[in-house]
Amino acid sequence: MVLIQLLAATLVLLIILLHFGNAYSLSRDEFPSDFVFGASTSAYQVEGAANKDGRKPSIWDTFSHSGNGHMYKGNGDIACDQYHKYKEDVQLMANMGLDAYRFSISWSRLIPDGKGPINPKGLEYYNNLTNELISHGIQPHVTLHHWDLPQKLEDEYGGWVNRSIVKDFTAYAEVCFREFGDRVKYWTTVNEGNVYASFGYDLGMLPPQRCSPSFQANCSRGNSSTEPYLVAHHMLLAHASAARLYRKKYKGTQHGFIGFNLLTFGFVPLTNTSEDIIATQRVQDFMIGWFLNPFTFGDYPDIMKKNAGSRIPSFTKKESNLVKGSIDFLGINFYFSFYVKNSPAIQQIKDRDYMEDIEVETIQLTTNDTSPFEVPITPWMLQCVLDSVKKDYGNFPIYIHENGQQTLSNSSLDDWSRVKYLHEYIGAMANALRSGSNVKGYFVWCFLDGFELLGGYEMSYGLYYINVKDPSLKRQPKLSAKWYTNFLKRKPMDPKVTIEIGKNQLFPSHASLLDNAK
Ligand code: NOJ
Repeated sequence: MVLIQLLAATLVLLIILLHFGNAYSLSRDEFPSDFVFGASTSAYQVEGAANKDGRKPSIWDTFSHSGNGHMYKGNGDIACDQYHKYKEDVQLMANMGLDAYRFSISWSRLIPDGKGPINPKGLEYYNNLTNELISHGIQPHVTLHHWDLPQKLEDEYGGWVNRSIVKDFTAYAEVCFREFGDRVKYWTTVNEGNVYASFGYDLGMLPPQRCSPSFQANCSRGNSSTEPYLVAHHMLLAHASAARLYRKKYKGTQHGFIGFNLLTFGFVPLTNTSEDIIATQRVQDFMIGWFLNPFTFGDYPDIMKKNAGSRIPSFTKKESNLVKGSIDFLGINFYFSFYVKNSPAIQQIKDRDYMEDIEVETIQLTTNDTSPFEVPITPWMLQCVLDSVKKDYGNFPIYIHENGQQTLSNSSLDDWSRVKYLHEYIGAMANALRSGSNVKGYFVWCFLDGFELLGGYEMSYGLYYINVKDPSLKRQPKLSAKWYTNFLKRKPMDPKVTIEIGKNQLFPSHASLLDNAK
């Protein structure tokens, strides 16, 4: 009798496994053999050692030590202490089977005043980290500016609002190419240039916290109607100048690639009316066309020039030629999606036309029990973004530099929502590849629970949990780390995981949204 029951139970389990396993399994073999899977971090969020070995403050040190704009507590003084624990971290990456690690260089650790002498200890650290990665077979993908501008340059001439930044950024980039370029082949000049310009200079929520004081009480200086455009313009010129230098002087021997990174969301018109459809195009032009149009065509999108008038700088012929064609790849950070509704009445704040007259609303389509901090999972929209970039700007190589689920940091190590999220988005990339997308790699944000730039230590994106109150800063793998490891190592998933993912499979039911987004 017991034997019969056992046999029956096994049969039921087998049927369940076959059903969900077949329908929802995801295999690394669906990706080309040179497709790169990795994880990302940034210097200020994980390195710590902020005051050690000659590093000087960046604008992030200043911002967090003055209270993070009253939004949350904490700072990156210690963070995950990757500065001292890099060997342990690289070992974890190797154990996971990561092909690549995306990290950023702290400019003020390498060149404490932003220009002038190099800090030998900073040089030593990035050499050590790079060598450690290479010796474990992990490709370093390096970002030069993940928002942490040396404070000295901000104080001296206002940082990115001043054109002097182009020369200083190029000189900093050259130090990196010269010192690390024999081993680093993937360089991203700027992380989320669009967010840096809008959150730092229009909304004043992030460093250097500039915006029109009439608009935001926490800004004491700035100009929301002009500075975001100026800053973006200087970023484009700084990127292009560094790329030109690399191509002229280093590419021949180092054979690397230079890219730029942008945040994008999925955008879907709320209705099929031409107003909402046009508004969706406009929001995309303001969000990514702002940079991709100059990179592809040498000028800003027409709608930006029309709406911003003389407040958006013009490219000279020479600048336009310099910027056009200056990216070898695009880095995309993708987290979630919005509905877009045309809303002329919203255009109240004069001269702030960044995404003017548009209302956005997060797409809430998940059927599962997402907590208020977790973002809805809309993988089909990543596919749309990849398709529309290809259609509008050409099929250049793309790396998904950041993608990941936010949770509260003290929530369970069994981070099911993150596992589901990663499973869905990696599946979306496999689909995008099948339909001709030139996506070359995927990086989970974030390798570790670090200092979240929009939420401090309260919010977490990590594959590894770190209790910042425990001085050992022990790395504890979450379920998502185990899931990613199994996926990377082509190991079968724990049946429980397969079944849980299967329950909330989201792909098949949203064809209508895909139609709206086209
Ligand atoms: C984008 C930023 O590049 C990264 O630093 C940040 O932690 C994540 N988004 C999540 O907010």
